[in-house]
Amino acid sequence: MKKIVYIFSMFFLCTLISCSSTTADNNSGNSAESKDYAIENILSRKSVRKYSDKEIEQEKIDIILKCAMAAPSAMNKQPWEILVINDKEKLEKIAEILPNASYSKNSQVTIIVCGDKEASEKFWEQDCSAVSENILLAAESLGLGAVWCAVYPFDEKVEAVKNLFELPENIVPLNVIPMGYPETNEDAKEKYDSKKIHINGWL
Ligand SMILES: Cc1cc2nc3c(=O)[nH]c(=O)nc-3n(C[C@H](O)[C@H](O)[C@H](O)COP(=O)(O)O)c2cc1C
Repeated sequence: MKKIVYIFSMFFLCTLISCSSTTADNNSGNSAESKDYAIENILSRKSVRKYSDKEIEQEKIDIILKCAMAAPSAMNKQPWEILVINDKEKLEKIAEILPNASYSKNSQVTIIVCGDKEASEKFWEQDCSAVSENILLAAESLGLGAVWCAVYPFDEKVEAVKNLFELPENIVPLNVIPMGYPETNEDAKEKYDSKKIHINGWL
């Protein structure tokens, strides 16, 4: 009888501990699991250039835009402006003026990340690059595919995008990011290279 009571109490105790640790993890948002998920997301991101016809749900776009603006920025100046293009004709036009972003034509949405030079002359490129990476990671996490296509620092590409969307003088398009549900199932590239790591100096 004593043994049964002991086993029962141990079971009860273990259940209690596991429940309380789950609650603590959920509350803090800092569980090992959520960290693993972020790392898994970073390591599985890849550029995707072929998209299916499936429409992207508006709530996914909203999440991506929220993630975009969660980026860090120098002195927290947040010198970004974001264009969301989902008009078929405009998507085709982007592909026409930017051959390096021809995938825009078949994308469901193309996001254009722009910097505001007046808001941060020195750091808009870095800040908008952080925004762009957040967009790519959020898209991957939501089962979407996306690719960063260069605009800045190519003067003719910058001018072409500025003209197409009638951007104000101080606004510079950094890139265009076509996205959609992936048509192919690609793996992320293996890039880790220990030779590129230098501990305590160039050794
Ligand atoms: C600054 C920058 C500019 C890029 N420009 C283009 C581009 O114009 N067209 C394109 O297809 N991919 C472009 N890419 C995507 C890269 O080709 C891609 O990130 C690289 O090949 C590594 O592949 P991964 O993203 O799948 O890891 C660009 C990426 C960066 C960061």
